[in-house]
Amino acid sequence: MKVINIGMIGTGYVGLTTGACFAHIGHNVVCVDNDEEKIRILLDGKIPFYEPKLDELVKENVKQGRLKFTNKISEAVKASTVLFIAVGTPPKDTGEPDLSYVENVAKEIGEAMDDYKIIVEKSTVPVKTGEWVKETITRYNKRNIPFDVASNPEFLREGNAVGDFLKPDRVVIGVESEKAKGIMLDIYKPINAPILITDIKSAELIKHASNAFLSTKISFINAISIVCELSGASVEKVAEGMGLDKRIGHHFLAAGVGYGGFCFPKDLLAFIRIAEELGYDYRLLKEVERINEEQKERFVKRIEGLLWNLREKQIGVLGLAFKPNTDDMRFAPSIDIIGKLKAAGAKVKAYDPHAMNNAKKIIKDIEYCNDSYEVAKDSDALAIVTEWDEFKTLDLARIKQLLKLPIVVDGRNVFDPFKMKELGFTYRSIGRQ
Ligand code: UGA
Repeated sequence: MKVINIGMIGTGYVGLTTGACFAHIGHNVVCVDNDEEKIRILLDGKIPFYEPKLDELVKENVKQGRLKFTNKISEAVKASTVLFIAVGTPPKDTGEPDLSYVENVAKEIGEAMDDYKIIVEKSTVPVKTGEWVKETITRYNKRNIPFDVASNPEFLREGNAVGDFLKPDRVVIGVESEKAKGIMLDIYKPINAPILITDIKSAELIKHASNAFLSTKISFINAISIVCELSGASVEKVAEGMGLDKRIGHHFLAAGVGYGGFCFPKDLLAFIRIAEELGYDYRLLKEVERINEEQKERFVKRIEGLLWNLREKQIGVLGLAFKPNTDDMRFAPSIDIIGKLKAAGAKVKAYDPHAMNNAKKIIKDIEYCNDSYEVAKDSDALAIVTEWDEFKTLDLARIKQLLKLPIVVDGRNVFDPFKMKELGFTYRSIGRQ
């Protein structure tokens, strides 16, 4: 195996996981972040967010000397042949991604280049960003050092990022030269997965198209769940029956309160905007987004429908993270749901196994509890918003005793409706009777 010297710029979920995994498969990696506090935490051997298995991987590879951290891009440029840009691309008010961080990094790389480099887009960026990265580097690369630009989108799921990196469904590499292609293939040699080589624009589009398609699948099944509720069918059975068709597949057909996180909502908006800029009105994706918003609204209306009024009622919320196994609160459905409950006059108590610290920074004026039972105590209804495993094994008889009224509104279909009825709950879930 050829060991490649890699610079990973940005140590968020994507950058840190990818950097640590590249080191794990044998490469030399320098991770860069301009947040000095973050680098200090990492140098202390800690991880600034919750991601299963990542802390062990970071510790082990720092110990082996394959993983280093710095806050100077120039240091990483000097030490590496391949530089991955994994900085944030947050949404602007218009929905377009803010690419100024990507631009700044490209500029700094251009200024610091001393030898041939490949600059790889890792962050999710709109199609044609590669052209801008190339142009920016050329402008600041005063010594005309040769370089290539590449696109290597990530498909990591939070909560399972290390596993997804080591056993991916595919690796997509967008390149323009044989030299860059050869080095990128060397990097991924230890990974056993189909590798798709494309041009840069197609690689950029594969990422946006994949996230847009997965969001569409979720909104599709959420819309089906409404038809199920109206007709008396069960969305789980419908999804199972659809999923048996290999062309459809079982994944991403779980109905719920809608998708969240820092990827789907922003990537969908960004994709709609870039299509618009290119001259196409992507109405299908606008509808996907509308259904997702409506799903949260419907959930709150559900709770209200069972309590007549929400004013002065106490609602217990279980789960705040945008999905289980992460502490990430960005664009979590819980934020909108709790906002709507509060706007209707309800008091909210909440608990999440891992996301409490992050939630406290975003959701104010609610009572944070130490566990699910404290949430249930004296609540008029219990709302399940994230399907953490620990909720599946709750002592439901105890929950019922603690609740003021035995009402459970389950936004993630965690419990069995028959069992809940047997236990004496008034139970509502998504798309099930
Ligand atoms: C997503 C993609 O799955 C990754 O492939 C991609 O790399 C990543 O975005 C990204 O662009 O960086 P992630 O945001 O970690 O990963 O989360 P997912 O597991 O995809 O879930 C997204 C949301 O969809 C969650 O809120 C989840 O609860 C919801 N969801 C998912 C459903 O409501 N139903 C489902 O059947 C599946």
